[in-house]
Amino acid sequence: MLNRTAAARPELGYALVTGAGQGIGRAIALELAARGHGIIAVARTRSQLDEVVQQCSILNGGRSVALELDLLAPDAVDRVEATVRATQKPLTVLVNNAGQAIWGRFNELTADDHQRVLQLNVQVPLAITHRLLPLLRAQQTAYILNVGSMAGYTAMATLATYSGSKAFLLRWSRSLRLELRGTGVQVCCVCPGSVITGFTQRAGMQAMDDLARKFGLPPERIARSAVRALFAGRAEVVPGFLDGITAWLLVNLPSTLTERMASGIYLNRLPASR
Ligand SMILES: NC(=O)c1ccc[n+]([C@@H]2O[C@H](COP(=O)([O-])OP(=O)(O)OC[C@H]3O[C@@H](n4cnc5c(N)ncnc54)[C@H](OP(=O)(O)O)[C@@H]3O)[C@@H](O)[C@H]2O)c1
Repeated sequence: MLNRTAAARPELGYALVTGAGQGIGRAIALELAARGHGIIAVARTRSQLDEVVQQCSILNGGRSVALELDLLAPDAVDRVEATVRATQKPLTVLVNNAGQAIWGRFNELTADDHQRVLQLNVQVPLAITHRLLPLLRAQQTAYILNVGSMAGYTAMATLATYSGSKAFLLRWSRSLRLELRGTGVQVCCVCPGSVITGFTQRAGMQAMDDLARKFGLPPERIARSAVRALFAGRAEVVPGFLDGITAWLLVNLPSTLTERMASGIYLNRLPASR
């Protein structure tokens, strides 16, 4: 838990954070609550939501709401909007964080698995942002934080759909930012490298766990950098010194080289049966 206490600052309005039950989303919710924002935390697991809402409420004076929701449900965006409106307070921050990966050769995973990743990583942020943007624009200042990935900087064998989805998110985020210039809505995309959360387990990437443990950053570190960059008006941030250098290399070295190197790490560790 954060050992910071912030005065409740109702004038800051509410931040909606998708995937706030654990990992990076939870850390971002706590970081924003510690700065005094109200929090609407969205995820499917009730017990995790209850815990994060309780922790946020200690930090922000009780202004925290849980929305237990599968973001892939047909009525998800309606329920998100209804929950935001029910607070009767300004929505000032939207964090599109919920996301997932699947690991394996493209045709060895089902088309449905690929579609689910695209839906959660691309279609859900797009639909929620489309619905909530008028509410954000109604504020003098508002913010959208999209949680991308360093995987969005390079093509990656065995992570084709994930890396494609995060490339979309980054380009979309930067495009939206240009479009919204002068409206008071800032858009930032955070592109973490490896982060120590339950993410690799969920993606069936246990074979990468030793690397994640060695080089991964804690989610709180990602949240601090992301929120700082968001409020500083930056377009994009890669938290961590080493990951910053890696991202620079991925963007600036010839892609034939970087794609082969990045893919090699994952191809070499893919279990033989997959
Ligand atoms: N961890 C990494 O190494 C890493 C690196 C770069 C980028 N990222 C990105 O960071 C973001 C968060 O990752 P993380 O590592 O924090 O993942 P995580 O530990 O797996 O947490 C994901 C969160 O999203 C929620 N979620 C997943 N599917 C959902 C759905 N259908 N509806 C509602 N909520 C859903 C989960 O809660 P429920 O299961 O309870 O719904 C959970 O709270 C993702 O976009 C990921 O691509 C992660």
